[in-house]
Amino acid sequence: MKVLVTGPHGFVGVRIMAALKDAIPAPSLRDADEDEIKRLVERIAPDVIIHTAAMSDIATCERDPEGSYRANIALPVWLAATGVKLIAFSTDQVYSGCTEDGPYTEDMGVSANLYGRHKLEMEKRTLDINPDTVLLRATWMYDMPVYGEKNRGNFLINMLRSREQAFSAVQHRAVTYARDVADCIQAAICLPGGVYNFGSENDLTMLETAMWLKQKLDLPVTLRDAGERHALWMDCRKIQGQGIIFPDTVCGLQRCMNDYGLADI
Ligand SMILES: NC(=O)c1ccc[n+]([C@@H]2O[C@H](COP(=O)([O-])OP(=O)(O)OC[C@H]3O[C@@H](n4cnc5c(N)ncnc54)[C@H](OP(=O)(O)O)[C@@H]3O)[C@@H](O)[C@H]2O)c1
Repeated sequence: MKVLVTGPHGFVGVRIMAALKDAIPAPSLRDADEDEIKRLVERIAPDVIIHTAAMSDIATCERDPEGSYRANIALPVWLAATGVKLIAFSTDQVYSGCTEDGPYTEDMGVSANLYGRHKLEMEKRTLDINPDTVLLRATWMYDMPVYGEKNRGNFLINMLRSREQAFSAVQHRAVTYARDVADCIQAAICLPGGVYNFGSENDLTMLETAMWLKQKLDLPVTLRDAGERHALWMDCRKIQGQGIIFPDTVCGLQRCMNDYGLADI
């Protein structure tokens, strides 16, 4: 099966490229228009497109709504319009405006930020174009840096390198080991079209999760309560029903610590 991966040098893309050895990396699509996308897909003729390229920072999207629209809606819509099966990443931020407490199921999205609203619109429009499209709502992901690739902060890195971190004592939210996401991507290709919560679950609050990691790794970081934050935890029974099982947040962190020998340092 020929798999084309967009954003192959991004945080998730690098790990998907490593997990799918024969996948074809797409060039940067930042300046591509619909015709260029069509030509690219015709030239490569993939069976599946895994779309990770995005404007994925909430604050950047708020500052540049047109850029966010282009990256987070137009680009995946153009990819879906090629008719090739599309696996596209969405986000747990689609739940940031829900009035319910959660955990949230796939039918519940209401977002309080532009990034999440654009992802919701993207989900709907790509599914309208091609009902076979698979939309993966991912949580905040973490991993250690990959040698030679750009790095950006994530839950684990922030905990390892900061003197002080603030997390909410009431916010229920999961974080997911990015390698678990990459390991599940092959199975995601075979999913029936639709929207899926795709990541770890978490019964702990973010502050409890951070306290667990601090204690496990004996980290010097000082943790404080960030106060009220909207819940983002996901109910992952739909994806579990398809045979894709992520470890819960604490088990994922433990696996990551084992993979890197972090607990032995
Ligand atoms: N990282 C997380 O914790 C997280 C959490 C939830 C959901 N997600 C979603 O998962 C997917 C992958 O996330 P990620 O963290 O891997 O993303 P990322 O590293 O921020 O970006 C992936 C790639 O997108 C391309 N890109 C950046 N700005 C763009 C723009 N304006 N137009 C077109 N392409 C652009 C870049 O590739 P080039 O430099 O080659 O153009 C970049 O390497 C995204 O859809 C994101 O929204 C991520």
